[in-house]
Amino acid sequence: MQRTIIDDVARDFELPLSRMQAIRKAVGAEMDAGLAGRKSSIAMLPAYCDAATGHEKGDYLALDLGGTNFRVSMIRLPGAGKPPRVVAEAKYRLTREQISGAGTVLFDAIAGYLGKFLKDHAFTHPHALGYTFSFPVRLLGIAEGILLKWTKDFSAKGVVGRRIVTLQRQALARKHIGNVTITALANDTVGTLQARAVLDPDCAAGVILGTGFNIAIRVPTRRIRKDYGNYPGASMIINMEAGGFGKALPRTRLDRKLDRETGNPGHQFAEKMMSGKYLPQLVRLAMLEAIRKDRLFGGRVPDVFARQESFGGQHMDAFIAGSRTGIDAVSRDLFGAPLPPAERRALVTACRTVSRRSARLAAALIVGALSRAEFRSARRVTVAVDGSLFEKSPGYARLLQAAIRELDGASGRRIRLMLTKDGSGIGAAVIAAVAGASAGEQGCA
Ligand code: BGC
Repeated sequence: MQRTIIDDVARDFELPLSRMQAIRKAVGAEMDAGLAGRKSSIAMLPAYCDAATGHEKGDYLALDLGGTNFRVSMIRLPGAGKPPRVVAEAKYRLTREQISGAGTVLFDAIAGYLGKFLKDHAFTHPHALGYTFSFPVRLLGIAEGILLKWTKDFSAKGVVGRRIVTLQRQALARKHIGNVTITALANDTVGTLQARAVLDPDCAAGVILGTGFNIAIRVPTRRIRKDYGNYPGASMIINMEAGGFGKALPRTRLDRKLDRETGNPGHQFAEKMMSGKYLPQLVRLAMLEAIRKDRLFGGRVPDVFARQESFGGQHMDAFIAGSRTGIDAVSRDLFGAPLPPAERRALVTACRTVSRRSARLAAALIVGALSRAEFRSARRVTVAVDGSLFEKSPGYARLLQAAIRELDGASGRRIRLMLTKDGSGIGAAVIAAVAGASAGEQGCA
């Protein structure tokens, strides 16, 4: 059989062990540079808190901004190592105008939804609030931070370079919400780590493999050579902003093309090779080449590939799973009819190829990150993971675990990946509790 464009893509997207090892090593070096405040593609942003102990207690509000769904929740932390509970929760879909218009529109919308939530549930007491803000933020302490840049196609104006909590507080005041105090600001990876740490003292990393990609890691404070204020603890969680990693990556022609089509060209190279927002776009670009050069679909571009975001993660998952009935059902939705064998094979291969490369890259980044971590046990470490790719994409978690074993199997240490849902809600509450405790006990924050 003749070699096809999709065969070439599959070959270009392979990530052999030697390449994963090179990436792991480069990750360690970039982490060191980031921790020393030198130029690095990994920002290594201090989170100003250590992993939870399980003793955190109380009711906390949590706000979660990081994707097109915005969430408000009330979380109960029972303490004594018992599992936290979501008492109430509401999700709201943000509009294009809210995520890319004036910053005040975004923060007012969030304040409005919070007000509605408090009213709907008759929460009238004063409450401390943990704010998960899942973008690169340089924290100034546990409860304030400056947005360094937007990612994931957010672009609200007048926010980059400004203090997030101040902007949000001003919006709360405009909406007359007076009984809420924002006491902690955190990244979703940090929340994910914390949501697991309350139950498992071996948790040293939090990973998001969803719309975006990132890792938080617990490091010994002595490794941090740049300014971290008057933080008193011996270990600190660091929001790596690992999606920005850009060294030793085997970027292909398609990766470069995708980058040019995004709203933030030249940034987030690892994220664009790995996360759920971009994988379907890589498949689309591969298919466009196959349509042009191999005359798939009779050389005519179907509507679903003509537009940038019509082909999505849920479609990819059906092709990856590979069941004929599943593929036919999705194909009827996407193309109006089941696909002929060549087109079907091409899509299955393209989807599996980009998904597999993502999992292997994630393995190299996670093992690289662990090379600088602080562990509570020498024999085992837990990595808390959340996000649609890890949770839902067929075979993804298995590929990731296998690639981690390939890279780290000889170390004698067991790396456990644990699906940890709702880091942004429960985790934010835990951080608010940790912040409250350390403010009271140690005078920090
Ligand atoms: C953001 C990170 C975030 C990740 C996962 C990335 O685009 O820069 O801050 O943790 O997405 O949501």
